[in-house]
Amino acid sequence: MELNKIYNENCLETMKKMPSQFIDMVLTSPPYDNLRDYKGYFFQFEDIAKELFRILKKGGIVIWVVGDASDNGSETGTSFRQALYFKDIGFYLNDTMIYYKNNPMPTSGPRYHQHFEYMFCFSKGQPKTFNPIVEECKYNGLANMKNRGKKGELNYKKVERTTEKKIGNVFFYSIGGGISTIDKIAYNHPAIFPEQLAFDQIKTWSNEGDIIYDPFLGSGTTAKVAHLLNRKWIGSEISKEYVEIAEKRLEKIIKNLFEKV
Ligand SMILES: C[S@@+](CC[C@H](N)C(=O)[O-])C[C@H]1O[C@@H](n2cnc3c(N)ncnc32)[C@H](O)[C@@H]1O
Repeated sequence: MELNKIYNENCLETMKKMPSQFIDMVLTSPPYDNLRDYKGYFFQFEDIAKELFRILKKGGIVIWVVGDASDNGSETGTSFRQALYFKDIGFYLNDTMIYYKNNPMPTSGPRYHQHFEYMFCFSKGQPKTFNPIVEECKYNGLANMKNRGKKGELNYKKVERTTEKKIGNVFFYSIGGGISTIDKIAYNHPAIFPEQLAFDQIKTWSNEGDIIYDPFLGSGTTAKVAHLLNRKWIGSEISKEYVEIAEKRLEKIIKNLFEKV
């Protein structure tokens, strides 16, 4: 199995070549609800989910970035069905995170503008890696903590000062031309996710040297960021046109694109 390589094929074919327990982390955004026409390709969700479980190491993570289309006046709910299916086949639903778009496309219909997609975090058992992003505590320096006793009285107790805490699970990103990435060529793909999203997720759930897989690589965002973060990576992309976009994008940062193991 070659690493640091894009496989121009159905991801099921790529995964067939992988031994079990081979991948540390999967970061991907599947095609959802035919919302966009990816050259007419469709995907076999249930088979893919089962293969992801097989190829993932114990404690490995799948980050599944997905939203729902509206169909005949109703949201499809596909994202929820998929999340529950992942649970049915043995994954833990470790965290339901939100990818919030600061500047989304306006949406029509009797509902508020669609501002977010889900970023489901599925794990194969307890996550083996968690390097949380932290922020400064707002009340940094408070030394007294109070809680209520049995009779409703306020009790004070001394607590150790904490200066940092992990951030919340809503991730805010601005998107669009020149913001999601500076690589102009990437925008020839209709549905890229921002590089910062890939950066945050890969840093959180993997370590240097780990293998990151994106079964729906599109314009190559996961591969590019994984490479810059000194991870190894594998991508599958069914459309030749998109593979060419991704390869051109990656050529700039990767001199020796192929590495054999
Ligand atoms: C939402 S896009 C991914 C975009 C990517 N995250 C990026 O930043 O560029 C989904 C991609 O999956 C590809 N695709 C659809 N079915 C596939 C399959 N069975 N195997 C591999 N790729 C597939 C589509 O051609 C499309 O490029």
